[in-house]
Amino acid sequence: MTKGSEWWRSAVIYQIYPRSFADGNGDGMGDLKGIRERLPELAKLGIDAVWCSPFFRSPQKDAGYDVSDYRDIDPRFGTLKDFDDLVEEGKKLGIRIIVDLVPNHSSDQHPWFQEALRSEKGSKARERYMFRDGKGRNGELPPNNWPSVFGGAAWTRITEPDGTPGQWYLHIFDSSQPDFNWDNQEVREEFKDILRFWLDRGAGGFRIDVAHGLVKEDGLPDVEEASTTMSGEEGANKPKDRTKPHPFWGQEGVHEIIREWRKVVDEYDDRIMAAEAWVLPLSRMAKWVRQDEYHQSFNFGYLEAQWKADQLKQVVAESLVEFGNVGAPSTWVLSNHDVIRHATRFAYDQVPKQGDGIGPDYPQPDVARGLRRARAATSFMLGLPGGAYIYQGEELGLPEHTTLDGKYRQDPTYFRTKGERVGRDGCRVPIPWEAKAPAFGFSTTGESWLPQPAHYGEYARDLQEGVAGSTLELYKSLLKLRKQYGLGLGSLEWVEEYCSENSLGYTNNGILVIANFNGTPIKLPAGEVMVTSQVGLTTALEHDQVAWIKL
Ligand code: GLC
Repeated sequence: MTKGSEWWRSAVIYQIYPRSFADGNGDGMGDLKGIRERLPELAKLGIDAVWCSPFFRSPQKDAGYDVSDYRDIDPRFGTLKDFDDLVEEGKKLGIRIIVDLVPNHSSDQHPWFQEALRSEKGSKARERYMFRDGKGRNGELPPNNWPSVFGGAAWTRITEPDGTPGQWYLHIFDSSQPDFNWDNQEVREEFKDILRFWLDRGAGGFRIDVAHGLVKEDGLPDVEEASTTMSGEEGANKPKDRTKPHPFWGQEGVHEIIREWRKVVDEYDDRIMAAEAWVLPLSRMAKWVRQDEYHQSFNFGYLEAQWKADQLKQVVAESLVEFGNVGAPSTWVLSNHDVIRHATRFAYDQVPKQGDGIGPDYPQPDVARGLRRARAATSFMLGLPGGAYIYQGEELGLPEHTTLDGKYRQDPTYFRTKGERVGRDGCRVPIPWEAKAPAFGFSTTGESWLPQPAHYGEYARDLQEGVAGSTLELYKSLLKLRKQYGLGLGSLEWVEEYCSENSLGYTNNGILVIANFNGTPIKLPAGEVMVTSQVGLTTALEHDQVAWIKL
């Protein structure tokens, strides 16, 4: 790993969802030991860093995004020693380990929140969170109309230590996830200390959870539209250019906090911070990655684009301009643990909105169509300049589990909406490693915290390893060429000849990437065909196919 290389500008970062990646102790829950044992597979894939979703001590009410101790590993996932071993293994393989920090809220089991519950109204302990008196004659109504992202109200009323009905506390997510008060100096100092704790242990940096939510507008005014998406908008299906600031998403005050953190991170060599900031439009999101703020931000505009030429061209062009304006690389992403896997999403023309998921009652996807498009979409994405994110399992072409029975569901969204929104469990099912092994090699015992559908065996890594035309080999080829031709640091030019309603073409460092979305076959130009999203493609590009050609 070279130092001072600004490696993150072109990095491909692989997201591990620790529960579902690899189970090292056979209890059906993935863990750090499992990750370490399988890390060589990721080195073979050709990625630069791993971002692990939270593994801190947590009651797991939101799969670890509810932290009760930010300086320890949850026993389900291992020990601090396992973390150190993972970092060591990563160093050997040239893979950095990025930690997922959750600063917007803690668990309600965090000692600070427990102390707040025991303490009086107006006390120092309550000041660390967002406690308010209710409205109505006896304070029986919530302080404002804010909705929880997971459904229902964003406020819960407590019982005071003397047994009387009391104040309300804010939770933008589940009631087990009380929001911190980021105007509180103690909260600010605590998080700088937590950053140092993980940096000292060798973390490659942080993915910052809900990075756009920390600061709330003074006076906590009502929202105009009770959207439950993370951008406060209705998503790709109903885009809206919001100019008026939202009272809890993307408040300007957040930037001051980011700058304080950046100073801490810059005390160390080569570490990064990446923001989970669902902020639109991209011109606003770019502000998060100014030189003294985050290194990177996820590009949710890209993630929300459909598999359509006009939408992709627009978001790519806009991203390169807006991020470029502040001297930051753009990033690209198609899947993560909060959205429907893109191998399934692209099978549809209209998908449920972010966070809603697909259940057995929803029209089921055309799996082959989804996979063909997913392979094309990834081939299109990995040729773009900037950084890219890959979500575990997508390199296998893994689809969403779309028929998961309600009795297995764990996402708080499912419970808070009484099953109306099935939530995100479908993209979080443990991934298959070996077709013939128990739990497809996820665990040695066959245990699996969410049941894997039988057809996941068809996507097992061992069936794809070394098999020409497999999705795994496609990813390996794309990542290898991306590195070899320095595409991450390159620059994009559209090739107008190939840009139409149904196709796109761009060049980057001497590689021509052509995508046919829906049109008539496109004759491939002269030049060496380096990789194609579908096997056997040599002369013409058909619908939902992408080719890389060396000019
Ligand atoms: C982020 C995480 C998501 C979690 C939420 C609350 O959006 O990605 O999984 O539920 O924050 O922490």
